[in-house]
Amino acid sequence: MQLYARDVGEGTPLVLLHAFPLSSSMWLTQREQLAPRFRVITPDLRGFGGSVLGGDEPSIEAMADDVANLLRQKGIAKAVIGGLSMGGYVAMALCRRHPERVRGLILADTKATADPDEARANRLRIAERLSAENTVAVLAEELLPKLVGPTTLRQRALIYGRVRGLVQATPAKAAAWAQRAMAARPDSLATLRETKVPALVIVGAEDTIATEADATAMVEALPNAELLVIPRAGHLSSLEQPDLFNQAVTEFVNAIARTT
Ligand code: MLT
Repeated sequence: MQLYARDVGEGTPLVLLHAFPLSSSMWLTQREQLAPRFRVITPDLRGFGGSVLGGDEPSIEAMADDVANLLRQKGIAKAVIGGLSMGGYVAMALCRRHPERVRGLILADTKATADPDEARANRLRIAERLSAENTVAVLAEELLPKLVGPTTLRQRALIYGRVRGLVQATPAKAAAWAQRAMAARPDSLATLRETKVPALVIVGAEDTIATEADATAMVEALPNAELLVIPRAGHLSSLEQPDLFNQAVTEFVNAIARTT
């Protein structure tokens, strides 16, 4: 599968993997602020944005293999890999399947545990509705209000409007496929225990989808990780507090470039 990816800037390669149900458009501010320092590569995961879905069975592993192929096609041996939420699940699968590609790891607003039964059943219900209706109405109704924190809901109408636009632009077929892929994903805590590269775990203090407890569990599993809790941000911390997010990523990638 050939992914569409925006690729801007020069220097240490930094790959940023987007959340569900968004696309690489969510990384606009990161491209603007980080590309003067690093080579910032933001793929659309299969089915989203400019990438086609293909005919494979739903799996996060397939998405991780796509990212490894993208790096190979670009002639990049290793990159700092960052992922937010679903992008984090893909980043962890990449650590499991292609560890030689990972120079450093950024996990934002994500979790290493698999879905409990109830959450898995809920995903499959949503996937059925997406497939039956062929629109993303169910995501706008049920998921959109939870994607940002209460501070953004109250005070940042432009950001919420942007997120709504991104959700509405998602193809229903890709959203159903990705829900099934996430429902099937394995626990990644053992993978994180084996991931010795430097890691930065970020979580919005107001995130209710992937919580501070989920972030702490990942930090405890990773041998070499630090934790940043971003105040007044929910699940989409990179969009809700881009300056704090980008500053932390800049310091992290700079330190990797200096020492590894
Ligand atoms: C995301 O933001 O990627 C999703 O909320 C992840 C999930 O549904 O677990």
